[in-house]
Amino acid sequence: MKIIVEENYQMLSERAAKIIADFIKKNPKCVLGLATGSTPIETYNLLVEKYKKGGISFKNITTFNLDEYSKLAPKNEQSYHFFMNKLLFSKIDIALKNTFFPTDFSPNFENYDKKIKEAGGIDLQILGIGTNGHIGFNEPGSKFSSKTRQVLLNKNTIKDNSRFFKSIKDVPKKAATMGISTIMKAKKIIFLASGENKKEAIYNSFCKKVSTKVPASILQKHKNVIVILDKAAAEKIAKKE
Ligand code: PGA
Repeated sequence: MKIIVEENYQMLSERAAKIIADFIKKNPKCVLGLATGSTPIETYNLLVEKYKKGGISFKNITTFNLDEYSKLAPKNEQSYHFFMNKLLFSKIDIALKNTFFPTDFSPNFENYDKKIKEAGGIDLQILGIGTNGHIGFNEPGSKFSSKTRQVLLNKNTIKDNSRFFKSIKDVPKKAATMGISTIMKAKKIIFLASGENKKEAIYNSFCKKVSTKVPASILQKHKNVIVILDKAAAEKIAKKE
């Protein structure tokens, strides 16, 4: 595991976008795993800029998103379909038929894993972390052997994500997520965390024993992870070093 600490969110995003763009240049037909949330927003903006400058093309790329809320139509502004379309897909040359979300396979969520396998597996997975240590919507206690499935969001996640909704009552209680075993099969993972509110989760994930209580801790066992943090998210691990 390689851990890179950047000064701030902007520099973290530039580093991530450069790694992803270089990967796409070398592997123009690759399969990307995509994350939503606030962390990757600037990375996606920078990828769009690189695309517009002619540096990269998404024409032959396939994407699988990590998760999606249950029962939100793709056109709903809070859905992750909407997020991806607005931020990335509508601004690049990707074929929408090659972009997938776990809820597209409802109720046979395990078919998402089959689809990923048929596509050749995920070459590069972009991943964030929740303040409770979740990856995707694999909440604390999720089995490391879990596959794509429907899950109940825990209180912590509902509270964290309520900032995107009018009221906490509007946050869906259920979602579909890639499982932890699905994520761990990605050939390469680029993991991003920014901000002081992530420092505890980062410390628990990378400085303690692997435990299902902290889903991201399993990444210690992945062979090819690049962790990119800003100083605020790295604060507790930096003190330990
Ligand atoms: P965030 O979400 O990027 O909005 O902090 C990350 C996550 O919950 O996985």
